[in-house]
Amino acid sequence: MPIPFAGGEIRPWKAADAEALALLADNRAIWRNLVDAFPHPYKKKDARIWIKAVTLQLPCRHFAVCVPAQGRDAKSKPATVIAGGIGITPGQDIRAGSAEIGYWLGEAYWGRGLMTSALEAFTAYAFPHFGLRRLHAMVLEWNPASMRVLEKCGYVCEAVLKRSALKDGVVADELLYAKVVE
Ligand SMILES: CC(C)(COP(=O)(O)OP(=O)(O)OC[C@H]1O[C@@H](n2cnc3c(N)ncnc32)[C@H](O)[C@@H]1OP(=O)(O)O)[C@@H](O)C(=O)NCCC(=O)NCCS
Repeated sequence: MPIPFAGGEIRPWKAADAEALALLADNRAIWRNLVDAFPHPYKKKDARIWIKAVTLQLPCRHFAVCVPAQGRDAKSKPATVIAGGIGITPGQDIRAGSAEIGYWLGEAYWGRGLMTSALEAFTAYAFPHFGLRRLHAMVLEWNPASMRVLEKCGYVCEAVLKRSALKDGVVADELLYAKVVE
């Protein structure tokens, strides 16, 4: 830790990130692509609760995606700002060794190739670090950007789960993407 990637680094969340997290995450355009456990509106209290919960995890499974801060003096210590989040939820029982991966970026950071680089690096880290043989992601049918990111990182669409989700008042299909190691 941290996990470097082209364009930034992935590191554990810190209590001091709460304000920046709430500012980035309080966005309906992000929320509509995620599970409802991701709050909307997203308040500083939500950020504090999230950071407290994930910093207690052992091993740590949810991380901040950070990019270099703009406008820093080149001679000063390099500093980063939070751009989003990435993490895994491990399976239980016979599904230990299999985990779901999730990720998001603040809208200002979309479309720069950032999540493709971050997911590639985090996937490479996660398989050996968490002892996984499989990682999967669930993507709502209206999210082609996420499908593309997964495909660029070597995940394969295994199934379309018809009418599996109710999001934002709409019944939707989800696409199941997965990557496995033999
Ligand atoms: C999904 C998300 C993480 C993508 O991050 P990103 O850094 O913008 O993604 P990248 O720039 O690395 O790659 C996006 C790819 O999708 C493509 N894309 C974007 N919008 C698209 C659209 N409407 N249709 C088809 N392709 C699209 C881009 O062209 C790019 O592919 P390319 O490199 O082949 O041109 C970001 O949009 C996000 O945080 N969304 C909200 C939360 C979310 O959806 N999380 C994932 C839940 S499964």
